[in-house]
Parts: sequence; C-alpha cells; structure tokens
Amino acid sequence: MQMTNLERFLKRLEGAEEFRKREGRPFITVTYAQGVDGSIALNSPHKIQFSGPDTQRLTHRLRATHDGILLGIGTVLADDPLLTVRLVAGPNPRPIVLDTHLRIRKDLRLMNRTDCKPLVITGPAPPRIQLRHIVNTGAQVIECPLNTEGRIDLRAFVRAIATMRPPMARLMVEGGARVISAFTAAQLVDFFIITITPCMLGGIKAMELPHPDFPYYVELNGLAVDPMGKDVVLWARPTWQDIQKKMGLD
Ligand SMILES: NC(=O)c1ccc[n+]([C@@H]2O[C@H](COP(=O)([O-])OP(=O)(O)OC[C@H]3O[C@@H](n4cnc5c(N)ncnc54)[C@H](OP(=O)(O)O)[C@@H]3O)[C@@H](O)[C@H]2O)c1
Repeated sequence: MQMTNLERFLKRLEGAEEFRKREGRPFITVTYAQGVDGSIALNSPHKIQFSGPDTQRLTHRLRATHDGILLGIGTVLADDPLLTVRLVAGPNPRPIVLDTHLRIRKDLRLMNRTDCKPLVITGPAPPRIQLRHIVNTGAQVIECPLNTEGRIDLRAFVRAIATMRPPMARLMVEGGARVISAFTAAQLVDFFIITITPCMLGGIKAMELPHPDFPYYVELNGLAVDPMGKDVVLWARPTWQDIQKKMGLD
C-alpha cells in the first residue's frame, strides 16, 4: 500500500537523531496555516481560527512528533497559546519562546502549564529581576548571543538545543511571521508543511525575506499536496536559489 505524505514525513523524522549528530542542530520543520493571499493572521488584534478541524488535528499530530515547538514572543503575547497536543493522543513537545528582551509574562497560559515549563531563549545578560521572576515560575532561560539585527542568533540557538540535556533532535517552528522569515533567511528549514486555507485575510504575510540584499529565493522541492477537509496541505523541502544565477528572462 502507498504511504501517505504524513507517513513519509514521519519516516524522514526517524533519521532526526542521526541528523542532529551529523549537523550539530535539530531537524527543523516549519509549519503554519495561511490564506491564499499568504496571510497568517489578521492585521488587527482579533484572533480567528481560519483553518479547518482536519488540519488543526494534523498540526497537533505534528506537534506530538517533535521534541520542541517554537514561537516568537510576538505570537506568545498576541495569542497567549497553550501549545499542547489536545486533539490527538501523544506527548506534548517542549514549548520554546524566542524572546530577546525577556518580555514574557508570568500570567501567560504557557507559563502556567503544569506538565512542562517553557524554554525561554533570551539575549545576553537579561534584566536580573525579570530573570528571577521567570525562573521562579519553573521556566528555563537560556542566554544566546544576538545577530547583527539585535535578535537571537538562530544558529547559536539551534546548536544550544541540540547539545542540551536531553538534546532536541526535532524542532517544529510554528511562527509567527518574523520567526518564519528569520529561519528561512538563515537557511534553517529542513521541511515546510504549509496549510493553505480558502480565505484571504489581507493581513500579516507569512514571509518577508530581507531586501534588497538578500541573494536568495526559496524553491520548494519534492512538493506533495494533500486536500484535507476544506484546506490543502503542502509538504516540501526547501532549497535556496541564488537570484544572480537566475536573472534575465528569455
Ligand atoms: N497562521 C499561523 O499558522 C500562525 C502561527 C503563529 C503565529 N501566527 C500569527 O503571527 C502573528 C505574530 O507574528 P510576528 O511576526 O508579529 O511575531 P513572532 O514572529 O511570533 O515573534 C517575533 C519576535 O520574536 C523575537 N525574536 C527573537 N529573536 C528573533 C529572531 N532571530 N528572528 C525573529 N524574531 C525574533 C522578536 O522580538 P524581541 O526582539 O522582543 O525578542 C520578534 O519581534 C500573530 O498575529 C499570530 O497570530 C500565525
């Protein structure tokens, strides 16, 4: 019998521990839901569930197969997500928040989970009082160097979680837009799983690569497509194409 795209992906994940040892970082899956106009959220504070129940279940299934699930502090503050696996049976991945200035708050739902406390990735020498507040909740804080834009250096971060105890071999990046863009620009994506849902939100676009000097665009290889309820799911490996080499139209 033919394997489904999910089964094929899970097979690929079986090699994640070998990948971690070889590459010194986890296998990174970027997954998110967008409207057909590329928006992942409204341009307003209103939070809406625009993808259907089938793809929401798929997201939870994917969460259960990764060691860590990562969001930027922008999404954590805007949406106050729980990041558990509620719609399927399976283990909860460890929540990870990229938070350069330790803006995370004690009252957020992530911070009050009893099963597992988040890993908060912050810049060097965070404010001591805030650090104490956050550590007192049981959350683990890891200090990482910053990149030239003054945000967490993603290569240093992925190396850190690949060598921590226990090491993470499978990282799922769920968003938001700035985080998806940053992982893509840093060429730190091994697999994209993108839900496209039949709506146009006219809102925050999933991805904006640094311009004008970013020399690549992303091509999706081995593309597989699954209709799933009202949505469509794309499964693909990215490669980064040199814009200079592709310039000039016939
Ligand atoms: N449809 C979906 O699947 C989906 C999934 C997730 C989120 N969303 C939506 O996305 C929206 C939020 O997106 P967003 O772009 O505002 O926020 P975000 O990507 O969640 O968080 C961005 C913030 O993370 C911090 N950060 C630290 N290091 C970083 C790095 N190296 N690169 C990028 N960011 C880094 C920065 O804040 P500091 O400088 O303060 O650290 C940055 O402003 C929300 O509306 C949410 O609903 C949609």
